[in-house]
Amino acid sequence: MKRLNAISDFIYPYRRIADIGCDHGYLIKIAFENNLIDYAYAIDNKIGPLNSSKNNLKDYQNVSYFLSDGLEKVDESIDCVIIAGMGGMLIISILEKNKDKLKNIKRLILQANRDEYLLRKYLVENGFYIQNEKIIKEDNKYYEIDCFEKGYEEYDFNDLYFGKILMKNKDDVFIEKWNNKYQKYKNIKAYSTDTEKIKIMKGIEQILCK
Ligand SMILES: C[S@@+](CC[C@H](N)C(=O)[O-])C[C@H]1O[C@@H](n2cnc3c(N)ncnc32)[C@H](O)[C@@H]1O
Repeated sequence: MKRLNAISDFIYPYRRIADIGCDHGYLIKIAFENNLIDYAYAIDNKIGPLNSSKNNLKDYQNVSYFLSDGLEKVDESIDCVIIAGMGGMLIISILEKNKDKLKNIKRLILQANRDEYLLRKYLVENGFYIQNEKIIKEDNKYYEIDCFEKGYEEYDFNDLYFGKILMKNKDDVFIEKWNNKYQKYKNIKAYSTDTEKIKIMKGIEQILCK
């Protein structure tokens, strides 16, 4: 629940959310329990997860359930869209498929299980900036949560790869993640000929002040 709690911390001040890929509905439950929201769209493209959400959220009236693909059913009543627990490429494909739906969205809270760099790059190339970020560790896995709003900011490779705000904050969990990766990557010979990997190693060295 640490990951879902951390995601819910980013909802304020918006009170009408859509959770795409709501699965069990736990995120929406946390948001209601903490009085963070007034209304939620629980969206999943599979009936099993959607039914699980309905069951777990039966005490809450202000939820609409949609068996639908991605942002298809999101309308102008929704301020904040959350997509979490999926690969970055899947999140990109969901956003890309219904790009027009992003016009009215004030905040996107995204948590990719991988390809965070590609996700950040996609968002900043499509009119968003990184409004906030957080990294947490749960069950021995690291999760980066990114909050995007409309606007422009300049970013370099390191900003997008490591997360501009994560780099600035340098939480203990962030340092631990990249220290672990550094030790792992250091021993892989292939890195010495791969220019992108060299850039990543240099970035980690900057973060760790090596
Ligand atoms: C791994 S679960 C993550 C659940 C939850 N968001 C979390 O962070 O714990 C991914 C969920 O997204 C749903 N999903 C995958 N692709 C989707 C899409 N295009 N539209 C809606 N739901 C989708 C899956 O059915 C599944 O319930």
